[in-house]
Amino acid sequence: MLTEQQVRQFHEEGYLFLPDTFTQDEVAVLKSEAEAIYRQERPEVWREKSGAPRTAFAAHLYNEAHGLLARHPGMIRPVEQLFGEQVYMHQYKINAKASFTGDVWQWHQDYGTWARDDGMPEPRAMNIAVFLDEVMPINGPLMLVPRSHTHGVLAAGHDTSTTSYPLWTLDEQTVTDLVEKGGIVAPTGKPGGLLLFHGNLVHGSAGNITPYPRKIVYLTLNAVSNYIRKPTRPEWIAHTDFTPIVPTDDGALTRYAQRLQQAAA
Ligand code: SIN
Ligand code: MN
Repeated sequence: MLTEQQVRQFHEEGYLFLPDTFTQDEVAVLKSEAEAIYRQERPEVWREKSGAPRTAFAAHLYNEAHGLLARHPGMIRPVEQLFGEQVYMHQYKINAKASFTGDVWQWHQDYGTWARDDGMPEPRAMNIAVFLDEVMPINGPLMLVPRSHTHGVLAAGHDTSTTSYPLWTLDEQTVTDLVEKGGIVAPTGKPGGLLLFHGNLVHGSAGNITPYPRKIVYLTLNAVSNYIRKPTRPEWIAHTDFTPIVPTDDGALTRYAQRLQQAAA
């Protein structure tokens, strides 16, 4: 569970970074399974203009390890605590930010998309990032503008050309004004780090021209009462199964990782 101080920091800053939350066993299996998923040709796997993987949607529905992460109590419980109710999975994606060719994510707010494209009533969905690779200052870390979540949904334009993935993006003046007030942070650290951030927090990331990939799983857990009212995107991008998540026990993902290691030995 989160401490009072952590809850306060989340509300004030719009994010909370908890390094070293998942064990190296847990992350190792999630990472190797992510690499196997990227090798598959399936509609859920989006590629950069270069052909490198960009993101794999809904992996929790077709991969057992990611299915266990999606129900991990270490993540579900804090979000239930913050929202005061049960949650369901609105979106699950594994972003690759591939070595040398990983492309940018322009500055945006996620709730802007959930409201405009999915008909989500309130910004009561939580973004959670789980680091699968080491996230460094140089390999395209996620950048956040602290406190930018307090301004509601900002005006945005639908950018369908900069990258292979359409996104409602913010203009330079808006970002400049917010950064003047809040600055920019880019949490970095070893695989296994966990970052929670508010649906209205402005964020983005630069391209990756280093040899170091930067895989991050992003889960969006939505409060059950805040289910989406007007879905327009494919079901595997914005889920319409609003069943509350029942967390696994604490050790489920670790046991699965150990079973795979034993089978491979
Ligand atoms: C996102 O904002 O959804 C992804 C950003 C990133 O992976 O850097
Ligand atoms: Mn985003």
